[in-house]
Amino acid sequence: MMIEKHINTTIQVFDSISELPDDIQSLMQNAVEARDRAYAPYSKFKVGAALVLENGSIVKGSNQENASYPSGLCAERTAIYAAGANYPNQKIKAIAITATSEKHDVLEPIAPCGACRQAIAEYEQKQDQPIHIYFTGTSGKVIHVKALLDILPLAFDNKFL
Ligand code: THU
Repeated sequence: MMIEKHINTTIQVFDSISELPDDIQSLMQNAVEARDRAYAPYSKFKVGAALVLENGSIVKGSNQENASYPSGLCAERTAIYAAGANYPNQKIKAIAITATSEKHDVLEPIAPCGACRQAIAEYEQKQDQPIHIYFTGTSGKVIHVKALLDILPLAFDNKFL
């Protein structure tokens, strides 16, 4: 028998960065600094990510493109792999993400791509604690989810292996 199931998710939408708690505003400011260091000569779309660890350290990443396009990497994975490589035993509390384009205004929140969600999901499972995600554009609304799995239902993970 077929049954239909509904998957619910909750997002919080803030009108602007200034409505965020102070510590998250500061994390988002780190994401802006990271964004300024993006290497995006091909897309002209610059993304910055900043994560805060349980010991208070902040790890930043930006997208790094390549003339061989698929060899580039998104900001979120650059940041989370840097955290995994440099602080392997520190839990990640939150990630802030921001994007800007040299070609057009980015006024909508820029959500992490599917591959980055999968990568972040791995660390959420590894640390057995949810990771808060905050994402925005260059200005305007900010979306907050309290866990990566809220934006990746039915995730594939190592329990299937
Ligand atoms: N990009 C990110 O850094 N994060 C995302 O979640 C979406 C896309 C980058 C990859 C590429 O350098 C540029 O944005 C355009 O896709």
